Amino acid sequence: MPTTQKNWSKSSWKNHTALQQPIWPDQLAVDRVLADLSTLPPLVFAGEIRSLKQLLAQASRGEAFLLQGGDCSENFSQVTAPNIRETLKILLQMAVVLTYAGGKPVIKMGRIAGQFAKPRSADMETIDGVALPSYRGDMVNKAEFTPEARMPNPKYMLKGYNMAASTLNLLRAFTRGGFGSLQRVQAWNQEFVAQSPMGRSYDRMAKQISQAIKFMETIGISSETPQINQTQLFTSHEALLLQYEEALTRVDSITGDWYDCSAHMLWIGERTRQVDGAHVEFLRGVHNPIGVKIGPSYDLDDVKRLIQTLNPANEPGRLTLITRFGLKKIEKALSPLLREMKKEGFNIVWSCDPMHANTYTATSGHKTRNFNDILSEITCFFETHWSEGTIPGGVHFEMTGNNVTECTGGAHNILDEELADNYLTSCDPRLNAEQSLEVAFQIADMIRS
Ligand code: PEP
Ligand code: CO
Repeated sequence: MPTTQKNWSKSSWKNHTALQQPIWPDQLAVDRVLADLSTLPPLVFAGEIRSLKQLLAQASRGEAFLLQGGDCSENFSQVTAPNIRETLKILLQMAVVLTYAGGKPVIKMGRIAGQFAKPRSADMETIDGVALPSYRGDMVNKAEFTPEARMPNPKYMLKGYNMAASTLNLLRAFTRGGFGSLQRVQAWNQEFVAQSPMGRSYDRMAKQISQAIKFMETIGISSETPQINQTQLFTSHEALLLQYEEALTRVDSITGDWYDCSAHMLWIGERTRQVDGAHVEFLRGVHNPIGVKIGPSYDLDDVKRLIQTLNPANEPGRLTLITRFGLKKIEKALSPLLREMKKEGFNIVWSCDPMHANTYTATSGHKTRNFNDILSEITCFFETHWSEGTIPGGVHFEMTGNNVTECTGGAHNILDEELADNYLTSCDPRLNAEQSLEVAFQIADMIRS
């Protein structure tokens, strides 16, 4: 039986206020693009989305752990084979650390293959007295500060779809075709990481895994099983551009249910999670797993209404709440939220985004985050869950497999004045591969205990 929510259709969001939408200059051009998009094939399939939901249900019970990470904002110019491979490699490395050292199955999820639209604090940006539309991500306009570049162009939505499709195509090839096999666990270590203390710890662990696989083969257990020679990476992005998401929303022929087939999981950002807003209205009706970012100024009753609206049947795995409180506020903000939601008996995957409320401007003028702040927020997240008797189910990072200098600190102790060396992000600062691996080892210790 299809289970469409009451009074919902894939366009019912249009009767609600939609924040953070571009102001397109030419409505006819938008309609043409949306008509094209709605006939193009889905990017992901309902069956995959359902298996993800089952895994997330396990995470809500503490039987699995969600690792979600990738760029703050993907850029069309960075959609290249090496970049996709490096992002996949670091996610696989982190996942293997969490699984082997942490002892829990890990759900691997990229902020990838669709993370092309960004919420902004203002509609316009003013530089030297010139006001232009803010950059809203490559699916809307271009970052360059010229009137031409900043003009929203609906054709970029079509380009975004194509970029997502080619990214997914390569990811599927890598994860199914041997690259993601545990037999290659040592090869995921990159040269610039291998020389570092983290890289050496990883290498030791990878050798142990390789020996275990060899031992299995020696005694006659085949390593030619999907558990060893394949892996699965799920995709996710912020469901921000509702016209795009609607165009990729389809009925599943098996169940008759609606799925947003632009990614396996979609999340609602801190700026667009109004209970009566268009983003909540749209996502309440699709059957994907949904994430919601929760910042420190949340209202308890508001969060309850959000949960009841997005997950009225209290289905485990449906809803992930991603808290992003910041080191300074998490201690005060997390406990009451956990206590109250536990009292209500809500099934929730609790995930920690230790990035978005720990941003500051360095002396060099770069927007950055400090490794110790990130780690401290995660530590506090785990400790608070333990003391409240709730389950820390996952983490959410902005990270890259490349050797960037965007976040300070870490084993290499990147300093403010070194940020300029390789600062590449077009949006928020990301952990580099070594910092990501370091944080994974620290979380593995917490998961195990
Ligand atoms: C993001 O994840 O890039 C983001 C904008 O987060 P938030 O909605 O939590 O601010
Ligand atoms: Co961000």
